[in-house]
Amino acid sequence: GRIRHYKFNVVMKNTTRLCESKPIVTVNGRFPGPTIVAREDDTLLIKVVNHVKYNVSIHWHGVRQIRTGWADGPAYITQCPIQPKGTYVYNFTLTGQRGTLWWHAHILWLRATVHGAIVILPKRGVPYPYPKPHKEVVVVLGEWWKSDTEAVINQAQKLGQAPNVSDAHTINGHPGPISNCVENGGFKVPVDQGKTYMLRIVNAALNEELFFRIAGHKLTVVEVDATYVKPFTTDTVLIAPGQTTNVLVNATQRAGKYLVAASTFMDAPIAVDNVTATASLHYSGTLSSSATKLVAPPPQNATPVANSFINSLRSLNSAKYPANVPLTVDHSLFLTIGLGINPCSTCVNGSMVAASINNVTFVMPKTALLQAHYFNISGIYTDDFPSKPLMPYNYTGTQPKNLATTNGTKLYRLPYNAAVQVVLQDTAMLTPESHPLHLHGFNFFVVGRGIGNYNPVTDPKKFNLVDPVERNTVGVPAGGWTAIRFRADNPGVWFMHCHLEVHTTWGLKMAFVVDNGKGPKESILPPPSDLPKC
Ligand code: C2O
Repeated sequence: GRIRHYKFNVVMKNTTRLCESKPIVTVNGRFPGPTIVAREDDTLLIKVVNHVKYNVSIHWHGVRQIRTGWADGPAYITQCPIQPKGTYVYNFTLTGQRGTLWWHAHILWLRATVHGAIVILPKRGVPYPYPKPHKEVVVVLGEWWKSDTEAVINQAQKLGQAPNVSDAHTINGHPGPISNCVENGGFKVPVDQGKTYMLRIVNAALNEELFFRIAGHKLTVVEVDATYVKPFTTDTVLIAPGQTTNVLVNATQRAGKYLVAASTFMDAPIAVDNVTATASLHYSGTLSSSATKLVAPPPQNATPVANSFINSLRSLNSAKYPANVPLTVDHSLFLTIGLGINPCSTCVNGSMVAASINNVTFVMPKTALLQAHYFNISGIYTDDFPSKPLMPYNYTGTQPKNLATTNGTKLYRLPYNAAVQVVLQDTAMLTPESHPLHLHGFNFFVVGRGIGNYNPVTDPKKFNLVDPVERNTVGVPAGGWTAIRFRADNPGVWFMHCHLEVHTTWGLKMAFVVDNGKGPKESILPPPSDLPKC
């Protein structure tokens, strides 16, 4: 592959949305930020210069970072943040990966405005496993708050309350033509009748899973999370924060404008931003006066629509792109994910919502875990993360008496190259809720999924070990479970967390450490000399 250089200047930029202006943190002054375009096996050198007053770090979501955890980006997990006036060059190779991924700030809530797409084309001369589209369009879905995101995070962090929901969703930075305040008519996709377009959709929203529809058009899904899937055609795409989805759209209609809609999916009684973001397909030859053809978004709690989309996802599993699903398991974990309540002296009610995995609420360390692991610095973490819930109970049934969680910076040690199975079980402790779980450093196969409590005897019999979808972020269903498998072939320290930012803030996160037995200095590349210090 070749080497590609990018420069990311992190700068404040006064930005107007919903008819109000506020300064936001951006990369190169843009919202969403610049798209990175590269090819499979290329090496990226991205120089990030921090010109703002906040600490910054950038994560390349879905890039496997084989032996290059130093470039992964989550603050205090693989690196100390880049301080104001600081610089760091992220240096990594896109080994064996192609498709749509994305990048985002990985510290506090900065990713609200600091994010953009990564487009990885196949190697030169290698075609897509589907007909070549006439044009490709990046579509980044986001959220917009009228208030400062700092104020929003403080609610979640310092007060222990659910933060205000966003005031709008956005498509490529704009709420769109159907909103209270239209700036520019929203994002437009120009199309020619009879041609096929590929949309590379990224859900960069902080806290909401989204449905995606286009009036009068079917969507053919060909790829998710930069892995090819068996193409299937649908009216509605479901995309959780962290996920990416490529769809083909045939421009089969007549001249006109057709609404594109991104709307919330939430199958729990939780406050959400229910404002639909919109954009439009514009056929060439359309009169500017012509009315936009509308599309109704699915109801917010349309679980059957969500399920039918999820159940249609299969790995392509062709001769060229086989699904290498681990058929046997060397190492198995059962993790409950959910919310709890802990005492809090500084909080309004004397208590705060705490999210946890196996009842452990992850506490961010003061030094990056990867550094502590690599240089053998003690006192930063312990590696006693429980492989089973500390407090077993009827997870999706009655509420337990004790809602408290245990605080700690605990890591889980995975044997190198083990075939790992993780069952992620949602709990109904406060309320059942869908959690998009994201694992850094690996792709995994989603071998099973169900509602209620996971049954270790009967459920594995129904697993799909032939062509399960491969991804890096999976929505664990509300009041249900998901089973994933992957090979622990990448040494390093790897974050796993709910990609709903509010849940990450509350502690729904953990980290795995993978070592090849010869020690980190033999298994991981040495840290770059400009690695930021804490
Ligand atoms: Cu896209 Cu750890 O995140």
